[in-house]
Amino acid sequence: MALGTRHQALLPLHLARLHLRNYRNFAEQELEIPPQGVAIVGDNGQGKTNLLESIYYLEIFRSFRGAPDEQLVRFGEEVFRVEGTLRGDDGAERKLAAAFERRRKKKKVTVGGAEPERLGDALGKVGAVIFSPSDVEIVAGGPGERRRFLDIVLSLAEPGYLGALQRYRQALFQRNTLLRQGSPAPLVELWNDPLVAAGSRVLEARARWVADRAASFAAHYARVAGGQPGTLALAPSVEIGGDAPSVAAIAAAFRDKLARVAEREQRRGMTLAGPHRDDLRFATHAPDGTALELRTYGSGGQQRTAAIALRMVEAETIRQTRGRESVILLDDVFAELDPGRSQRIVEWIEGEEGGQVILTSPKPTDFQVHGDTLPRWTIRDGVVSPL
Ligand SMILES: Nc1ncnc2c1ncn2[C@@H]1O[C@H](COP(=O)(O)OP(=O)(O)O)[C@@H](O)[C@H]1O
Ligand SMILES: [Mg+2]
Repeated sequence: MALGTRHQALLPLHLARLHLRNYRNFAEQELEIPPQGVAIVGDNGQGKTNLLESIYYLEIFRSFRGAPDEQLVRFGEEVFRVEGTLRGDDGAERKLAAAFERRRKKKKVTVGGAEPERLGDALGKVGAVIFSPSDVEIVAGGPGERRRFLDIVLSLAEPGYLGALQRYRQALFQRNTLLRQGSPAPLVELWNDPLVAAGSRVLEARARWVADRAASFAAHYARVAGGQPGTLALAPSVEIGGDAPSVAAIAAAFRDKLARVAEREQRRGMTLAGPHRDDLRFATHAPDGTALELRTYGSGGQQRTAAIALRMVEAETIRQTRGRESVILLDDVFAELDPGRSQRIVEWIEGEEGGQVILTSPKPTDFQVHGDTLPRWTIRDGVVSPL
Protein backbone atom coordinates (compact mmCIF):
# COMPACT_ATOMS: atom_id res chain seq x y z
CA MET A 1 0.00 0.00 0.00
CA ALA A 2 1.53 3.28 -1.02
CA LEU A 3 0.27 5.02 2.07
CA GLY A 4 2.60 7.59 3.43
CA THR A 5 4.58 8.58 0.38
CA ARG A 6 3.09 12.02 -0.07
CA HIS A 7 3.22 12.98 3.58
CA GLN A 8 6.82 14.04 3.62
CA ALA A 9 6.18 17.55 2.32
CA LEU A 10 3.36 18.68 4.59
CA LEU A 11 2.48 16.99 7.83
CA PRO A 12 -1.22 17.22 8.50
CA LEU A 13 -2.62 17.49 11.98
CA HIS A 14 -1.98 14.11 13.49
CA LEU A 15 -1.88 12.14 16.68
CA ALA A 16 1.77 12.40 17.64
CA ARG A 17 1.72 10.61 20.98
CA LEU A 18 -0.55 8.24 22.83
CA HIS A 19 -0.24 7.30 26.46
CA LEU A 20 -2.46 4.55 27.87
CA ARG A 21 -2.73 3.47 31.46
CA ASN A 22 -4.89 0.52 32.51
CA TYR A 23 -7.01 0.78 29.39
CA ARG A 24 -8.41 -2.67 28.54
CA ASN A 25 -5.42 -5.04 28.25
CA PHE A 26 -2.85 -2.20 28.23
CA ALA A 27 -1.06 -1.64 31.53
CA GLU A 28 1.18 1.26 30.62
CA GLN A 29 1.92 2.10 27.01
CA GLU A 30 3.55 5.17 25.55
CA LEU A 31 3.72 5.53 21.81
CA GLU A 32 5.22 8.07 19.42
CA ILE A 33 3.12 7.76 16.31
CA PRO A 34 4.59 8.80 12.95
CA PRO A 35 2.72 11.58 11.11
CA GLN A 36 1.84 9.32 8.20
CA GLY A 37 0.60 6.63 10.58
CA VAL A 38 1.50 3.05 11.31
CA ALA A 39 0.44 -0.52 10.57
CA ILE A 40 -0.03 -2.67 13.66
CA VAL A 41 0.19 -6.42 13.28
CA GLY A 42 -0.87 -8.93 15.88
CA ASP A 43 -2.78 -12.13 16.41
CA ASN A 44 -6.38 -12.16 17.55
CA GLY A 45 -7.02 -11.07 21.09
CA GLN A 46 -3.75 -9.15 21.51
CA GLY A 47 -5.28 -5.66 21.73
CA LYS A 48 -5.46 -4.28 18.19
CA THR A 49 -9.06 -3.17 18.42
CA ASN A 50 -8.49 -1.99 21.99
CA LEU A 51 -5.74 0.31 20.77
CA LEU A 52 -7.89 1.90 18.06
CA GLU A 53 -10.78 2.08 20.51
CA SER A 54 -8.58 4.05 22.90
CA ILE A 55 -7.61 6.50 20.14
CA TYR A 56 -11.22 6.95 19.12
CA TYR A 57 -12.09 7.41 22.79
CA LEU A 58 -10.36 10.80 22.48
CA GLU A 59 -12.76 11.64 19.67
CA ILE A 60 -16.10 10.78 21.32
CA PHE A 61 -15.10 10.01 24.94
CA ARG A 62 -16.75 6.66 24.89
CA SER A 63 -16.15 3.29 23.32
CA PHE A 64 -16.93 3.08 19.60
CA ARG A 65 -17.95 -0.51 20.35
CA GLY A 66 -20.64 0.77 22.69
CA ALA A 67 -18.94 -0.75 25.74
CA PRO A 68 -19.64 1.00 29.06
CA ASP A 69 -16.66 2.80 30.59
CA GLU A 70 -16.47 0.24 33.42
CA GLN A 71 -15.48 -2.40 30.88
CA LEU A 72 -12.58 -0.31 29.64
CA VAL A 73 -10.75 -0.35 32.96
CA ARG A 74 -8.09 -3.04 32.98
CA PHE A 75 -9.18 -6.08 34.98
CA GLY A 76 -8.27 -5.64 38.65
CA GLU A 77 -7.63 -1.88 38.32
CA GLU A 78 -9.66 1.14 39.34
CA VAL A 79 -8.83 3.91 36.88
CA PHE A 80 -7.98 4.07 33.21
CA ARG A 81 -6.39 7.00 31.50
CA VAL A 82 -5.96 7.81 27.81
CA GLU A 83 -3.86 10.77 26.81
CA GLY A 84 -3.14 11.89 23.28
CA THR A 85 -1.07 14.71 21.85
CA LEU A 86 -2.21 16.27 18.61
CA ARG A 87 0.40 18.04 16.54
CA GLY A 88 -0.65 20.56 13.88
CA ASP A 89 1.16 21.31 10.63
CA ASP A 90 2.77 24.30 12.33
CA GLY A 91 4.15 22.00 15.04
CA ALA A 92 1.83 23.33 17.75
CA GLU A 93 0.72 20.63 20.17
CA ARG A 94 -2.48 20.09 22.06
CA LYS A 95 -3.18 17.48 24.69
CA LEU A 96 -6.43 15.57 25.02
CA ALA A 97 -6.98 13.35 28.02
CA ALA A 98 -9.69 11.21 29.51
CA ALA A 99 -9.72 9.29 32.75
CA PHE A 100 -12.41 7.13 34.27
CA GLU A 101 -12.72 5.92 37.82
CA ARG A 102 -14.65 2.70 38.16
CA ARG A 103 -15.90 2.91 41.72
CA ARG A 104 -17.21 6.46 41.60
CA LYS A 105 -18.15 6.12 37.90
CA LYS A 106 -16.42 9.40 37.37
CA LYS A 107 -15.09 10.58 34.03
CA LYS A 108 -12.74 13.47 33.63
CA VAL A 109 -11.96 14.94 30.23
CA THR A 110 -9.44 17.66 29.52
CA VAL A 111 -8.62 19.54 26.34
CA GLY A 112 -5.36 21.44 26.43
CA GLY A 113 -5.28 20.86 30.19
CA ALA A 114 -8.69 22.45 30.87
CA GLU A 115 -11.98 20.76 31.56
CA PRO A 116 -14.55 21.74 28.94
CA GLU A 117 -17.80 23.22 30.18
CA ARG A 118 -19.79 20.54 28.41
CA LEU A 119 -18.60 17.22 27.06
CA GLY A 120 -20.05 18.28 23.71
CA ASP A 121 -17.36 20.98 23.50
CA ALA A 122 -14.63 18.34 23.63
CA LEU A 123 -16.01 16.08 20.91
CA GLY A 124 -14.35 15.65 17.55
CA LYS A 125 -10.97 17.17 18.36
CA VAL A 126 -8.97 14.38 16.75
CA GLY A 127 -11.10 14.36 13.62
CA ALA A 128 -10.90 10.59 13.40
CA VAL A 129 -13.01 8.07 11.53
CA ILE A 130 -12.88 4.41 12.38
CA PHE A 131 -13.53 1.59 9.90
CA SER A 132 -14.26 -1.72 11.56
CA PRO A 133 -15.67 -5.09 10.55
CA SER A 134 -18.53 -4.50 13.00
CA ASP A 135 -19.64 -1.55 10.80
CA VAL A 136 -21.61 -4.07 8.77
CA GLU A 137 -24.09 -4.00 11.65
CA ILE A 138 -24.99 -0.43 10.70
CA VAL A 139 -26.37 -1.82 7.45
CA ALA A 140 -27.49 -5.30 8.51
CA GLY A 141 -28.47 -4.72 12.14
CA GLY A 142 -31.48 -3.09 13.76
CA PRO A 143 -32.54 0.56 13.29
CA GLY A 144 -30.94 1.50 16.62
CA GLU A 145 -27.51 0.89 15.06
CA ARG A 146 -28.29 3.31 12.25
CA ARG A 147 -29.62 6.00 14.58
CA ARG A 148 -26.48 5.61 16.71
CA PHE A 149 -24.37 6.17 13.61
CA LEU A 150 -26.31 9.32 12.70
CA ASP A 151 -26.16 10.61 16.24
CA ILE A 152 -22.40 10.22 16.48
CA VAL A 153 -21.67 11.82 13.10
CA LEU A 154 -24.05 14.70 13.71
CA SER A 155 -22.83 15.27 17.27
CA LEU A 156 -19.35 15.62 15.81
CA ALA A 157 -20.31 17.74 12.83
CA GLU A 158 -23.31 19.81 13.80
CA PRO A 159 -23.19 22.39 16.58
CA GLY A 160 -26.19 22.04 18.86
CA TYR A 161 -27.14 18.54 17.70
CA LEU A 162 -26.03 16.74 20.83
CA GLY A 163 -27.87 19.23 23.04
CA ALA A 164 -31.09 18.83 21.02
CA LEU A 165 -30.74 15.05 21.14
CA GLN A 166 -30.31 15.11 24.92
CA ARG A 167 -33.35 17.36 25.37
CA TYR A 168 -35.32 15.08 23.08
CA ARG A 169 -34.37 11.98 25.06
CA GLN A 170 -35.31 13.68 28.29
CA ALA A 171 -38.73 14.72 26.99
CA LEU A 172 -39.28 11.28 25.49
CA PHE A 173 -38.42 9.61 28.76
CA GLN A 174 -40.87 11.78 30.72
CA ARG A 175 -43.61 11.34 28.16
CA ASN A 176 -43.13 7.58 27.98
CA THR A 177 -43.23 7.32 31.76
CA LEU A 178 -46.60 9.09 31.83
CA LEU A 179 -47.96 6.95 29.00
CA ARG A 180 -46.79 3.76 30.67
CA GLN A 181 -48.54 4.79 33.89
CA GLY A 182 -51.74 5.39 31.94
CA SER A 183 -51.79 9.11 32.79
CA PRO A 184 -54.61 11.22 31.32
CA ALA A 185 -54.00 12.67 27.86
CA PRO A 186 -53.69 16.35 28.92
CA LEU A 187 -50.84 15.40 31.23
CA VAL A 188 -49.04 13.51 28.47
CA GLU A 189 -49.59 16.37 26.05
CA LEU A 190 -47.71 18.75 28.34
CA TRP A 191 -44.62 17.05 26.96
CA ASN A 192 -45.55 17.49 23.31
CA ASP A 193 -43.99 20.94 23.00
CA PRO A 194 -40.56 20.01 24.39
CA LEU A 195 -40.65 16.75 22.42
CA VAL A 196 -41.48 18.51 19.18
CA ALA A 197 -39.07 21.41 19.74
CA ALA A 198 -36.05 19.18 20.31
CA GLY A 199 -37.17 16.38 18.00
CA SER A 200 -37.68 18.58 14.97
CA ARG A 201 -34.15 19.97 15.32
CA VAL A 202 -32.80 16.43 15.46
CA LEU A 203 -34.83 15.33 12.47
CA GLU A 204 -33.99 18.44 10.46
CA ALA A 205 -30.26 17.83 10.94
CA ARG A 206 -30.62 14.16 9.98
CA ALA A 207 -32.67 14.95 6.88
CA ARG A 208 -30.26 17.67 5.78
CA TRP A 209 -27.23 15.42 6.30
CA VAL A 210 -28.74 12.61 4.27
CA ALA A 211 -29.87 15.01 1.53
CA ASP A 212 -26.41 16.61 1.37
CA ARG A 213 -24.53 13.31 1.38
CA ALA A 214 -26.68 10.93 -0.65
CA ALA A 215 -24.91 11.65 -3.93
CA SER A 216 -21.53 11.21 -2.34
CA PHE A 217 -22.63 7.93 -0.78
CA ALA A 218 -23.77 6.71 -4.19
CA ALA A 219 -20.44 7.66 -5.74
CA HIS A 220 -18.39 5.93 -3.02
CA TYR A 221 -20.56 2.85 -3.14
CA ALA A 222 -20.27 2.61 -6.92
CA ARG A 223 -16.52 3.05 -6.79
CA VAL A 224 -15.87 0.48 -4.07
CA ALA A 225 -18.35 -1.96 -5.60
CA GLY A 226 -16.81 -1.62 -9.04
CA GLY A 227 -19.75 0.17 -10.65
CA GLN A 228 -22.79 -1.27 -8.89
CA PRO A 229 -25.26 1.39 -7.77
CA GLY A 230 -26.00 2.06 -4.10
CA THR A 231 -28.34 4.52 -2.45
CA LEU A 232 -28.79 6.06 0.99
CA ALA A 233 -32.07 7.51 2.20
CA LEU A 234 -33.66 8.59 5.46
CA ALA A 235 -36.83 6.78 6.48
CA PRO A 236 -38.20 9.24 9.04
CA SER A 237 -40.93 8.30 11.47
CA VAL A 238 -42.60 11.64 10.81
CA GLU A 239 -43.55 12.24 7.17
CA ILE A 240 -41.57 15.22 6.00
CA GLY A 241 -42.08 16.82 2.63
CA GLY A 242 -39.11 17.22 0.29
CA ASP A 243 -35.47 16.49 0.86
CA ALA A 244 -34.53 18.93 3.57
CA PRO A 245 -37.50 20.82 5.01
CA SER A 246 -37.22 23.56 7.63
CA VAL A 247 -37.37 22.94 11.38
CA ALA A 248 -40.75 24.73 11.45
CA ALA A 249 -42.23 22.52 8.72
CA ILE A 250 -40.97 19.41 10.50
CA ALA A 251 -42.39 20.62 13.81
CA ALA A 252 -45.82 21.07 12.23
CA ALA A 253 -45.69 17.57 10.70
CA PHE A 254 -44.49 16.10 13.99
CA ARG A 255 -47.36 17.75 15.90
CA ASP A 256 -49.89 16.43 13.38
CA LYS A 257 -48.52 12.96 13.66
CA LEU A 258 -48.66 13.03 17.46
CA ALA A 259 -52.31 14.04 17.26
CA ARG A 260 -53.01 11.15 14.90
CA VAL A 261 -51.31 8.51 17.06
CA ALA A 262 -52.48 9.87 20.43
CA GLU A 263 -55.13 7.24 20.95
CA ARG A 264 -52.84 4.41 19.99
CA GLU A 265 -50.18 5.81 22.31
CA GLN A 266 -52.60 5.63 25.21
CA ARG A 267 -53.30 1.98 24.42
CA ARG A 268 -49.68 1.00 23.81
CA GLY A 269 -48.26 3.09 26.66
CA MET A 270 -45.42 4.65 24.66
CA THR A 271 -44.55 7.47 22.27
CA LEU A 272 -45.07 6.21 18.74
CA ALA A 273 -43.75 9.05 16.58
CA GLY A 274 -40.47 10.93 16.49
CA PRO A 275 -36.76 10.64 15.73
CA HIS A 276 -36.40 7.68 18.11
CA ARG A 277 -38.16 5.71 15.37
CA ASP A 278 -36.23 7.05 12.35
CA ASP A 279 -34.24 4.74 10.16
CA LEU A 280 -31.77 4.84 7.29
CA ARG A 281 -32.26 2.78 4.16
CA PHE A 282 -29.50 1.39 2.03
CA ALA A 283 -30.39 -0.08 -1.34
CA THR A 284 -28.95 -1.24 -4.60
CA HIS A 285 -30.72 -1.88 -7.88
CA ALA A 286 -31.29 -5.20 -9.52
CA PRO A 287 -30.46 -5.33 -13.25
CA ASP A 288 -34.18 -4.84 -14.02
CA GLY A 289 -34.19 -1.62 -11.99
CA THR A 290 -36.05 -2.77 -8.87
CA ALA A 291 -34.64 -1.42 -5.63
CA LEU A 292 -33.27 -4.05 -3.27
CA GLU A 293 -32.93 -3.06 0.33
CA LEU A 294 -29.47 -4.13 1.46
CA ARG A 295 -30.48 -4.85 5.04
CA THR A 296 -32.77 -7.65 3.89
CA TYR A 297 -31.56 -8.64 0.45
CA GLY A 298 -27.93 -7.53 0.34
CA SER A 299 -25.10 -10.03 0.23
CA GLY A 300 -22.46 -9.83 2.94
CA GLY A 301 -20.17 -8.11 0.43
CA GLN A 302 -22.78 -5.53 -0.54
CA GLN A 303 -23.54 -4.80 3.10
CA ARG A 304 -19.85 -4.35 3.87
CA THR A 305 -19.48 -2.08 0.85
CA ALA A 306 -22.35 0.11 2.03
CA ALA A 307 -20.78 0.34 5.49
CA ILE A 308 -17.46 1.39 3.97
CA ALA A 309 -19.12 3.97 1.71
CA LEU A 310 -20.92 5.32 4.78
CA ARG A 311 -17.63 5.71 6.68
CA MET A 312 -16.15 7.48 3.65
CA VAL A 313 -19.05 9.90 3.71
CA GLU A 314 -18.47 10.35 7.44
CA ALA A 315 -14.80 11.12 6.80
CA GLU A 316 -15.82 13.68 4.20
CA THR A 317 -18.22 15.25 6.69
CA ILE A 318 -15.53 15.42 9.36
CA ARG A 319 -12.99 16.76 6.89
CA GLN A 320 -15.32 19.52 5.76
CA THR A 321 -16.37 20.40 9.30
CA ARG A 322 -12.81 20.52 10.61
CA GLY A 323 -11.32 21.95 7.43
CA ARG A 324 -8.57 19.34 7.35
CA GLU A 325 -7.89 15.69 6.67
CA SER A 326 -9.29 13.18 9.09
CA VAL A 327 -7.24 10.62 10.98
CA ILE A 328 -8.23 7.27 9.48
CA LEU A 329 -8.37 4.24 11.75
CA LEU A 330 -8.73 0.93 9.92
CA ASP A 331 -9.39 -2.03 12.15
CA ASP A 332 -8.77 -5.31 10.41
CA VAL A 333 -10.57 -4.02 7.37
CA PHE A 334 -8.55 -5.56 4.57
CA ALA A 335 -8.73 -9.04 6.03
CA GLU A 336 -12.43 -9.17 5.16
CA LEU A 337 -12.34 -7.68 1.69
CA ASP A 338 -11.33 -8.93 -1.72
CA PRO A 339 -8.17 -7.34 -3.13
CA GLY A 340 -10.13 -5.14 -5.55
CA ARG A 341 -12.19 -3.52 -2.82
CA SER A 342 -9.16 -3.17 -0.55
CA GLN A 343 -7.26 -1.49 -3.36
CA ARG A 344 -10.08 0.98 -3.96
CA ILE A 345 -10.15 1.92 -0.28
CA VAL A 346 -6.43 2.56 -0.41
CA GLU A 347 -6.90 4.70 -3.52
CA TRP A 348 -9.59 6.68 -1.75
CA ILE A 349 -7.30 7.35 1.20
CA GLU A 350 -4.52 8.38 -1.14
CA GLY A 351 -6.69 10.51 -3.38
CA GLU A 352 -9.14 12.21 -1.04
CA GLU A 353 -8.13 11.84 2.54
CA GLY A 354 -4.39 11.77 2.98
CA GLY A 355 -4.18 12.29 6.71
CA GLN A 356 -2.65 9.94 9.21
CA VAL A 357 -3.62 6.29 8.83
CA ILE A 358 -3.45 3.83 11.71
CA LEU A 359 -4.36 0.34 10.65
CA THR A 360 -4.37 -3.08 12.22
CA SER A 361 -4.19 -6.54 10.75
CA PRO A 362 -3.63 -10.08 11.97
CA LYS A 363 -1.41 -10.84 8.97
CA PRO A 364 1.78 -9.05 7.97
CA THR A 365 1.23 -10.40 4.46
CA ASP A 366 -1.77 -8.08 4.12
CA PHE A 367 0.57 -5.16 3.75
CA GLN A 368 2.86 -6.72 1.20
CA VAL A 369 -0.13 -7.05 -1.06
CA HIS A 370 -0.48 -3.28 -0.95
CA GLY A 371 3.18 -2.40 -0.66
CA ASP A 372 4.65 -1.42 2.67
CA THR A 373 5.48 2.22 3.20
CA LEU A 374 3.80 2.57 6.60
CA PRO A 375 6.09 1.76 9.52
CA ARG A 376 5.12 -1.51 11.11
CA TRP A 377 4.63 -2.35 14.74
CA THR A 378 3.63 -5.59 16.37
CA ILE A 379 1.29 -6.04 19.30
CA ARG A 380 1.25 -8.87 21.78
CA ASP A 381 -0.72 -9.21 24.96
CA GLY A 382 -1.27 -5.48 25.25
CA VAL A 383 2.32 -4.49 24.49
CA VAL A 384 3.18 -2.66 21.28
CA SER A 385 6.68 -2.85 19.86
CA PRO A 386 8.32 -1.69 16.63
CA LEU A 387 8.96 -4.60 14.29
N1 LIG B 1 -10.99 -4.41 30.77
C1 LIG B 1 -10.09 -5.28 30.30
N2 LIG B 1 -8.99 -5.59 31.03
C2 LIG B 1 -8.07 -6.47 30.57
N3 LIG B 1 -8.16 -7.09 29.39
C3 LIG B 1 -9.23 -6.81 28.63
C4 LIG B 1 -10.24 -5.90 29.03
N4 LIG B 1 -11.17 -5.85 28.07
C5 LIG B 1 -10.76 -6.67 27.10
N5 LIG B 1 -9.59 -7.27 27.42
C6 LIG B 1 -8.81 -8.23 26.65
O1 LIG B 1 -8.49 -7.69 25.40
C7 LIG B 1 -8.34 -8.74 24.49
C8 LIG B 1 -9.05 -8.46 23.19
O2 LIG B 1 -8.46 -7.36 22.62
P1 LIG B 1 -8.85 -6.87 21.17
O3 LIG B 1 -8.25 -5.54 21.02
O4 LIG B 1 -10.30 -7.02 20.92
O5 LIG B 1 -8.07 -7.94 20.29
P2 LIG B 1 -7.72 -7.94 18.75
O6 LIG B 1 -6.23 -7.84 18.67
O7 LIG B 1 -8.21 -9.25 18.26
O8 LIG B 1 -8.40 -6.79 18.13
C9 LIG B 1 -8.91 -9.99 25.10
O9 LIG B 1 -7.85 -10.83 25.44
C10 LIG B 1 -9.62 -9.47 26.33
O10 LIG B 1 -9.58 -10.37 27.39
MG1 LIG C 1 -9.95 -6.81 16.75
